[in-house]
Amino acid sequence: MSEDNNRDSLIAAARRALENSYSPYSNFRVGAALRFADGTVVTGTNVENASYGLALCAETVAVAKAMDDGHRGGLEEVAVIGDTAAPVTPCGRCRQVLNELAELGDTDPVVWCAGEDEVVEMRLSGLLPRAFGPASLE
Ligand code: THU
Repeated sequence: MSEDNNRDSLIAAARRALENSYSPYSNFRVGAALRFADGTVVTGTNVENASYGLALCAETVAVAKAMDDGHRGGLEEVAVIGDTAAPVTPCGRCRQVLNELAELGDTDPVVWCAGEDEVVEMRLSGLLPRAFGPASLE
């Protein structure tokens, strides 16, 4: 698969996840998709709560689903999309949550941040330099 197909298929998976967004309070839908070294794709969407501060971000939901499926590393690619024109970049908490899974497998995943009009390509290490992670506790 070419790099562009890889990118576009993962963004498409994130966009499909966004369709299940439960975001009645913000009306801000977000979808995320993670691709692992074995080709597995795990998606997530944001899940809000009447107690507003309890909202779960799409990326965090995706990481929790992946870890529940047994993934402990191998995270190679991440796509995040909102239904906004401008790209959505992961919030600070999600950067940290993504880092935990990435660091377990010693990868530095590419992160495609997408909106309807633009895609920005980053690396997790660029979004969260000098991250605090599992190795920091050793
Ligand atoms: N949100 C995400 O799902 N991911 C992010 O990285 C940024 C914010 C969600 C949380 C909340 O449901 C809505 O977007 C508005 O902040």
